[in-house]
Amino acid sequence: MANFVITIDGPAASGKSTVARLLAERLGASFLDTGAMYRAVTLAAIEACVDMSDEEKLLSVLNNRKFQFTVREGRMAVCIDGVDVTERIRRQEVTANARYVASAARLREKLVEMQREFAAREKKIVTEGRDQGTVAFADANIKFYLIADAAERAKRRQIELRAKGSSENLEQIQKAIEERDKSDEDRAVGPLKPAEDAIVVDTTNLSIEEVVEKLFCFVEENA
Ligand code: DC
Repeated sequence: MANFVITIDGPAASGKSTVARLLAERLGASFLDTGAMYRAVTLAAIEACVDMSDEEKLLSVLNNRKFQFTVREGRMAVCIDGVDVTERIRRQEVTANARYVASAARLREKLVEMQREFAAREKKIVTEGRDQGTVAFADANIKFYLIADAAERAKRRQIELRAKGSSENLEQIQKAIEERDKSDEDRAVGPLKPAEDAIVVDTTNLSIEEVVEKLFCFVEENA
């Protein structure tokens, strides 16, 4: 395992990914976006027309394709069999179907193993997801759990989507976010919940910069 591990977990659109990336940059640490792993397997399964509720078939997608996760210009880059899918894994269809991969126990086990291998190669790492502080790195040095009101998260997601040319209304976005929260919280394996020793940060009224500053100060004082 890396010498120093910081985990950031939290619900969809809580700002984890951006915060984790910027915090890693400030700390000179590596960064792992574990959602990208679930998304990559989901994309490969969709493209292979696999029945998403068939865990065995999903597992064979993970075992038979070559997934590569690297950090490029501070961001998580993903390749499947040598093809760059970094942009494609962000598609709406992938977001909507990732819950199948996320609730497949044996897939999670394998992805957690890959996350630990990734971390083992780094001296210092900031890793974000849903189960990083509870399962993947239960003995992490520092654990954060970011929360924000669903309405605020929907607003943030709408800004992101608009920048990509999508015009979904706020109500639809909030509904999708709440459905994802429920699916993440109710799953039997690796459910979304704060680790007992996580520092919970409510980001509803904070900018990204303020959240990063808060986390950075905490790390500086407690590392
Ligand atoms: O954070 P994200 O939206 O990129 O996550 C994509 C999906 O993967 C989402 O359905 C939650 C799931 N996920 C998970 O179950 N465990 C993680 N550690 C990270 C993501």
